[in-house]
Amino acid sequence: MKQETQFRWLEQLRAEALKGGGEERIRKQHDKGKLTARERLRYLLDEGTFVEMDMLVKHRSHDFGLDKQRVPGDGVITGYGYINGRIVFVFSQDFTVFGGSLSETFAEKIIKIMDQAMKVGAPVIGLNDSGGARIQEGVVSLGGYAEIFLRNTLASGVIPQISAIMGPCAGGAVYSPAITDFTFMVKKSSYMFVTGPNVVKTVTHEEVTAEELGGAETHATKSGVNHLTCDNDVQCLKQIRQLFSYMPSNNLDDPPRIKSEDDPGRLDENLDEIIPENPNQPYNMKDIIATTVDRDSFFEIHPDYAPNIIVGFARYDGYSVGIVANQPNYLAGVLDIDGSLKGARFVRFCDAFNIPLITFEDVPGFLPGTHQEWGGIIKHGAKLLYAFSEATVPKITVITRKAYGGAYDVMSSKHIRGDANYAWPTAEIAVMGPKGAAEIIFRKEIKDSEDPEKMLARKEEEYREKFANPYLAAERGYIDEVIEPRFTRMRIIQALRMLENKADSNPAKKHGNIPL
Ligand code: HXC
Repeated sequence: MKQETQFRWLEQLRAEALKGGGEERIRKQHDKGKLTARERLRYLLDEGTFVEMDMLVKHRSHDFGLDKQRVPGDGVITGYGYINGRIVFVFSQDFTVFGGSLSETFAEKIIKIMDQAMKVGAPVIGLNDSGGARIQEGVVSLGGYAEIFLRNTLASGVIPQISAIMGPCAGGAVYSPAITDFTFMVKKSSYMFVTGPNVVKTVTHEEVTAEELGGAETHATKSGVNHLTCDNDVQCLKQIRQLFSYMPSNNLDDPPRIKSEDDPGRLDENLDEIIPENPNQPYNMKDIIATTVDRDSFFEIHPDYAPNIIVGFARYDGYSVGIVANQPNYLAGVLDIDGSLKGARFVRFCDAFNIPLITFEDVPGFLPGTHQEWGGIIKHGAKLLYAFSEATVPKITVITRKAYGGAYDVMSSKHIRGDANYAWPTAEIAVMGPKGAAEIIFRKEIKDSEDPEKMLARKEEEYREKFANPYLAAERGYIDEVIEPRFTRMRIIQALRMLENKADSNPAKKHGNIPL
């Protein structure tokens, strides 16, 4: 073959691959408000940086007439590119080719980039839009999924893995995103479930739509599977770019530090007024976070799930940090099952990827009740305790108000290797709240008094004065300093600088046995 003909042949093959499932199916994709797999990569990656691999791979099946439908690329686009100049590996499932369904070769393509990403030490970002296992291929496609799950597991804690759900994701296919570190879902066009509405109806007789069963809102609020709901594909891809900016490329790197425009010595006088006089009155912990971090740098994760705890990334003087904070505005900031799970998973991600943890604490304790006890608040609360205890990254804690009971220990206390622990003068660090404490330790006196209510109030005040403050903990060195709130940003940044070269480790082991 002449060289010119050879080049033309290559061009034709490429053109065929670029067409995907053809114009009609692309039109359908757009009609659903979705971008195509290739368009998505354009928004995700720095312009012109995508390098495709395996564009010409075709499936090897012959059954059910598949031998007559062999689209180059086979329904998934794989390769690498850059986000703000940092390399990432990507796969983008193409719903226009066999509904983005996973075949043997489709799986091989994903596996190839996952293996490469592990060798290079770069994240994998998966854009999911698929009808699941390619039905015509049977067990071969199940094997392909399992090979991906294995790699997701082995890569966990070594390279960041981020999933976007931008269409269907059903059956066992959901377990790949579930093992990855973060899952974002697009409103209205995406869903995830192990079995769809029809199977649900047959088995449990429940009538439920796909959206109700496994849409973005459902997983953002009820199950916690979705870390962030996005309005559309473009917003989702932009959010992934931002999320990645806080993390290192792998577990041996530090997160990137950027130059901050915000004064590290900035004092925030309005913080001195933020805690209400009445200790039972709520306030918004997000105001404290927003005021102390570098301007506009807070990126909240899981905003709609277990709002009694806040988690997210932020920057202080350009240092990337993970924030974990109780939210007095919701259920008084109590720790419950969902909140513990949400916090624990986030803490473990930060620890795995060398991201310092900043904890803002105002917590009245663990949520009481049969629902919580029978649901396993003991083992789920233990996860948060375990996560903070095993974390060896720099840990900085600020107690703004309540730090009661076991929750005091859990929230990155000095006793579980907190590095820099601060309390505001409004802090109340004690075994329990003054009312509960007075009712127990002065029970007899209260019962025998002429006016039990008045006596209780007096004893409550007595207890508050003695114990509900930060000074007993300060005397013991359980907190390093009582600070006026306005100095919080400055102290956190000083601590981050002090801890820049912190090295700590856990005993050698195969792995711990976190209470699952
Ligand atoms: C092969 C598939 C497919 C699949 C869709 N297609 N899913 N081809 N294997 N799993 C093809 C369709 O034949 C169609 O081809 C094209 O993709 C688009 O599909 P439509 O049905 O027209 O699209 P839509 O109406 O939007 O519905 C999308 C859908 C539906 C809800 C995903 O296609 C569907 O229910 N598919 C089957 C889902 C499923 O049961 N998958 C197996 C799950 S079990 P043409 O040529 O007409 O364009 C599983 C196990 C994994 O995945 C286990 C891992 C451990």
